[in-house]
Amino acid sequence: ARPKPLAEKRVLITAGGTIERIDPVRYVTNDSSGKMGYAFAEAARELGAEVTLVCARTDGPPPGGVAVVTAESAEEMLEAVMSRLTESDYIVKAAAVADYRPLHRFDAKIKKSADTLTLELVKNPDILQTIGEWKAARPAGSRPYVIGFAAETNDLEKHALDKLHRKKCDLIVANDVSAVGAGFGSETNIVSVYGAEGLVENIPQTAKRLVAERVLAIAIDRANRETAA
Ligand code: PMT
Repeated sequence: ARPKPLAEKRVLITAGGTIERIDPVRYVTNDSSGKMGYAFAEAARELGAEVTLVCARTDGPPPGGVAVVTAESAEEMLEAVMSRLTESDYIVKAAAVADYRPLHRFDAKIKKSADTLTLELVKNPDILQTIGEWKAARPAGSRPYVIGFAAETNDLEKHALDKLHRKKCDLIVANDVSAVGAGFGSETNIVSVYGAEGLVENIPQTAKRLVAERVLAIAIDRANRETAA
């Protein structure tokens, strides 16, 4: 049998793209398929973890053997994640969360009238940053190990390290979402993993499931070394 380094560990994973409603039939979203988050859920399950998968809009059914929670918008995802923080050993923020949502959510379908229509957007809460701030105020040994993502189209390392420090996470998985075979919707990904000290590992193009396995192996090793120190 394969070793189960995550036995008795609880892993919280977010997947998919949030939906920010404009009116009852229209919304703002993004191209996330949920495949990266699903791959983490499968990989963590195979390593023995008790997995909770918080799903926004995703393509296809979630993997079996994991608890699934639906959270449509960034605000719903924030609530779903924050209410489960104390019971999580690892958190993987693979979801693509909308940075902005419509300021007004109309109760009735917007009617076609003028030639132009302006949609005013307001900033969403940053879930990863909220987790990071919560975590920073907790004593060592009782904090989840937090893996964030960075979806970038330029200056990958600079933006990834900036997000790692600003959002106070333990690892950042950076993907150049403009590269072929990486990022949104594809079966494979190409990522670089960063810790506070800088680059930890470049993972060349491979199946999202293998990316997830490798990132979890890095995270488990680093989390164990931190608690042993
Ligand atoms: O779902 P797939 O089709 O498989 O595609 C995978 C992916 C490209 C979506 C995934 O690999 C990925 O990069 N996910 C993060 C997408 C994203 O929102 O990146 P970002 O750089 O905008 O955000 C950085 C981090 O902050 C992310 O962990 C994100 O979950 C988090 N965030 C962002 C905004 C916000 N309001 N709250 C957040 O928690």
